[in-house]
Amino acid sequence: MTSKTVAELLKADFKPQDIDIKGWVRTFRANRFIALNDGSSLQNIQCVVDFENTDEKILKRITTGAAVHIKGELIESQGKGQSVEIKVDQIAILGDSDPETYPIQPKKHSFEFLRENAHLRTRTNTFSAVMRLRSTLSFAIHKYFNDNGFYYMHTPIITGSDAEGAGEMFRVTGLDAKNPPLTEEGNVNYKEDFFGKETNLTVSGQLEAEAYAMSLGKVYTFGPTFRAENSNTSRHLAEFWMIEPEVAFMDLAGNMDLAEDFLKSVLKYVLEHNRADLEFLEQRLLDEEKTKPQAERSEMSLIEKLRFVIDNNFKRVSYTEAIDILKNSKPNKKKQFNYIIEEWGADLQSEHERFLVEKHFKCPVILFDYPANIKAFYMRLNEDGKTVRAMDILFPGIGEMVGGSQREERLDVLREKMKALDIDEEELWWYLDLRKYGTAVHSGFGLGFERLVMFATGMGNIRDVIPFPRTPHNAEF
Ligand code: 4AD
Ligand code: MG
Repeated sequence: MTSKTVAELLKADFKPQDIDIKGWVRTFRANRFIALNDGSSLQNIQCVVDFENTDEKILKRITTGAAVHIKGELIESQGKGQSVEIKVDQIAILGDSDPETYPIQPKKHSFEFLRENAHLRTRTNTFSAVMRLRSTLSFAIHKYFNDNGFYYMHTPIITGSDAEGAGEMFRVTGLDAKNPPLTEEGNVNYKEDFFGKETNLTVSGQLEAEAYAMSLGKVYTFGPTFRAENSNTSRHLAEFWMIEPEVAFMDLAGNMDLAEDFLKSVLKYVLEHNRADLEFLEQRLLDEEKTKPQAERSEMSLIEKLRFVIDNNFKRVSYTEAIDILKNSKPNKKKQFNYIIEEWGADLQSEHERFLVEKHFKCPVILFDYPANIKAFYMRLNEDGKTVRAMDILFPGIGEMVGGSQREERLDVLREKMKALDIDEEELWWYLDLRKYGTAVHSGFGLGFERLVMFATGMGNIRDVIPFPRTPHNAEF
C-alpha cells in the first residue's frame, strides 16, 4: 500500500493500485462521493464510499471540513469529471468538523469574510492556489540568485538605524511602558534599555547588505521588513517581505538590467511550474472582471499579462521625461488627478505612476534619475547636482514594485548629504567606513514580495497574498 498525495496520484499515469490517503473533506454528496483535498493540488480526488457497507455513524461524520483517513483502491473513474477515483474500502474520521459552525462552506465567500477566517481560508481553492504560488515564487527567487552567483545573507531584524529616513518605525524596547527610566530632561532614557540605545524593527536590510556586497561581491536578502506607515491601502502592509540584492562594481544601468532579468525569470518560473493554479486564478479574475464596467476591465487575462511582462522590454524613462508626460496629460489638464503636477520636483503619487504604466506606456516602466530631495540619503548624486541615480519599477495594476538605486560611494558627498538631512554620523559610523576603506560603485534594489505575488496571482488586495496580514488595527492570528 502506498501513501501518496492527491497531486502525485493525479500526475502519474494511471495504474490500478492500493491507496492510503489523508485529507480534508471538501464536500460529501449523495452519501457516496467525497471530494477530498490534501493541499498538494488545486484538484480534489473523488473517493467513492460504499454506503451500504459503511457504518451509519461514520457516514454522518463525513462532513465538510472533517479530516479523514482513507484506504482503498485507485480505479479508472466510472463517472464524468475526473479520470481516476478512489474506491473506498476503509474510512476513519481523524477529526470531526461541525457542519453548523464550520466557516468554509462549499459556496462563494467574500474575501473580507475569509480575511476574518485567515486560519481556515487556505481550505478554499483561491487561497490555496495563491499560497502555493507564493511558495513557488519564493523558491524561484532563491534559485535565480543562487544560479547567478549571489550569496544569501540574513540582515538583522532589530536595528538602531532608519535606513529609509522616513521615520516609519516600530520601536523595540524592554522598558516598562508605565514607568520608564527618564533622563534629566525628562525624556525616556534608552541608555538603560536592553540594547543601551533606541532600537526598532528594520524597514530595510539594505545598509547591512551594502557592507556584505563590499566584500562578498554579490549578495541578497529576503526577509521581513516593518513599516509603521498608516496607509490603509490595498498595497501596503505593516509587515511585508522584501528581497534586496546588492552588487559591488555595478552602476544604475546594471541595476536596471538585473531587476528586469530577475523579474522576468521568476515570473517565467511560476508560469512553467504552477500552471493549474494560474489557470484557476485566471478564471477567478475573469469572473471578477465581468462584474466591472467594460471600461475598467483588463484587456489581458492573467496569463497573458505574465507573458507580456516576460516577453517585452521594460520602458526606461527619466523622471524629467515622466514629468513632461504627466504635465501634458489629459487627467492633469482636466484636473482629474488628486495631485496636479505643476512643476519639476513634485513627488509622484500612485495615481501618476498608474497613469504612466496603465494608460501611457501600457507596460512596466523603469523611472530613473529622481530629484535628490524626494529620495533617501544614500543615493548617488548625479553630475547635475540635483538628481540622484534612483530607479523605481512600476507595474500595471500594482504601481511601485521595486525601488532601488546606485549608492553614494564618495565619502565627502555622503557626509554632506547626511549633514544636510541631520543624520547622525556617529549612528552610521560603520556605513561611512565602507566609503573610507576600499569604496567602489555599487547598487541594489528592493522588491516588495507581496506586490510581486499580487501581480502573479491577479489578487487585488495585498492582505490576500500574505498568510496573516498585519495592517493598522489588525494583528489577529
Ligand atoms: O522603495 P523602498 O522603500 O526601498 C527600500 O527600502 C530600499 N532600501 C530598497 C533597496 O534599494 N535595497 O521599498 C522597496 C519596495 C517597494 O518598491 C515596494 O514594492 C515594497 O518594498 N514596499 C512595500 N510593500 C508592502 N507594504 C509596504 N508598506 C511597503 N513599502 C514598500
Ligand atoms: Mg520606494
